[in-house]
Amino acid sequence: MFAGPVEFVKGVVAMDGLPPADRIEVCFAGRSNVGKSSLINAMTGRKALARASNTPGRTQEINYFTAGEMFLVDLPGYGFANAPVAVVGKWQALMRSYLGGRPTLRRAFLLIDHRHGPKPVDDEIMKLLDRAAVPFQAVLTKADKVKASERGPILDRLRGVLSQHPAAFPEILVTSSEKGDGIADLRAVIAGLGRD
Ligand code: GTP
Ligand code: MG
Repeated sequence: MFAGPVEFVKGVVAMDGLPPADRIEVCFAGRSNVGKSSLINAMTGRKALARASNTPGRTQEINYFTAGEMFLVDLPGYGFANAPVAVVGKWQALMRSYLGGRPTLRRAFLLIDHRHGPKPVDDEIMKLLDRAAVPFQAVLTKADKVKASERGPILDRLRGVLSQHPAAFPEILVTSSEKGDGIADLRAVIAGLGRD
């Protein structure tokens, strides 16, 4: 568990609303519905800390949480969202500005649905992170939905994509928020960043 309680700080709708950059933070990025908010809940052991739902486009603000000495940041998803185009455009632009322009962002966790593997839009976000020199680490989600026999080819394809990106960590985390797989590993990685 993280040192200290995990608490919601605020939902941010514009770059000038971000909290003071006075501590390191990690964020959770990925396509809409990939399981970002659920992963934060699983990691913190709080079922409804971050609001999760079956509707793509659930998270529409940049949500800040404190975890000990650091911030955890839940981002709106990219790709398809079940909301009006103009509204989606606004939060997409904010999410991209955040990824490219937050000096205290220590690592971005890029979530990818294990059933589908990386999509072109993921590659686009990886390029943004490369340009901004934000180290990122891929996290496969919903592992409980994938047969063991189907995992290898997806992992191989993802390794191939990551090898094209200078900001990518080669190590891939495989998780299930539903079953708890990989959650302790992710927590340990984040706690390690907090100690550096
Ligand atoms: P947006 O905020 O809309 O971008 O979505 P999100 O990436 O935050 O996804 P969210 O956590 O809201 O989860 C989307 C759906 O996937 C919900 O119905 C979750 O219950 C489901 N889900 C998330 N993680 C898992 C998992 O590990 N296994 C399974 N089976 N379902 C999951
Ligand atoms: Mg969400």
